[in-house]
Amino acid sequence: PVTVYADQRIASLAVAARIATLIRKKQAAGEPTTLGLATGVTPIQVYAELIRLHKEEGLSFKGVITFNLDEYYPMKPDAVQSYVTFMNENLFDHVDIDKSLVHIPDGTLPQDKVAAFCLEYERQIEELGGLDLQILGIGRTGHIGFNEPGSAPNSGTRLVTLDDLTRNDASRDFGGKQNVPTKAITMGVGTIFKAREIILMAWSAKKAPIVRKAVEGEISGEVPATFLQLSDNVEFVLDKDAASGLT
Ligand code: F6R
Repeated sequence: PVTVYADQRIASLAVAARIATLIRKKQAAGEPTTLGLATGVTPIQVYAELIRLHKEEGLSFKGVITFNLDEYYPMKPDAVQSYVTFMNENLFDHVDIDKSLVHIPDGTLPQDKVAAFCLEYERQIEELGGLDLQILGIGRTGHIGFNEPGSAPNSGTRLVTLDDLTRNDASRDFGGKQNVPTKAITMGVGTIFKAREIILMAWSAKKAPIVRKAVEGEISGEVPATFLQLSDNVEFVLDKDAASGLT
């Protein structure tokens, strides 16, 4: 299903409320909550609202286990552009999450250790019975995570090469495209599909063309987000502008 909100703030509050409800329900049952998290500009207001709910409304992150979708490769965790830094600054440093339960792909590994790391990432998610909820943004290439055009529907966590357009879109963060890593470690499309609920968020007219393809286009590895049409557990959460190309 597709849900369209008047603006991204209202949409972000709704998504944060769903996450908070899930966490509280699981805590009441004495169970951990497993969340798949995204970086980028799209989820920032969701995380800000989760921080507010923690500070003002007693939402605790005790027992919350997180797996981030991706990380640049190579990437040092303390670099300003790392997804570790992003998550700490935008969420983890401001809530009571147990950092030993936070998982983000390791951008520091030597190349010959990456494959084993990726298998272990999959195994950890599997062992927890899959993720309760996966949050996604969408790139202008149609990527989810860093599953660029050409990704297979059953792909797992792996080292990938970033699309040229994705590196262009990241160039501001890195002070020039030449500084953007050419690779990343990402959960696969298959990994994402194991989540019991998936929420893809997109804001602004800039995303309208790719949102249209993702929601209404032919299902194809050329636009990996189209694979989400095959899942019964996906909700596309859009603002008016991102939804403006839908028929
Ligand atoms: C980030 C990720 C990417 C982004 C996408 C959109 O962890 O997996 O797929 O969600 O590139 O980025 P923004 O939100 O910056 O437009």
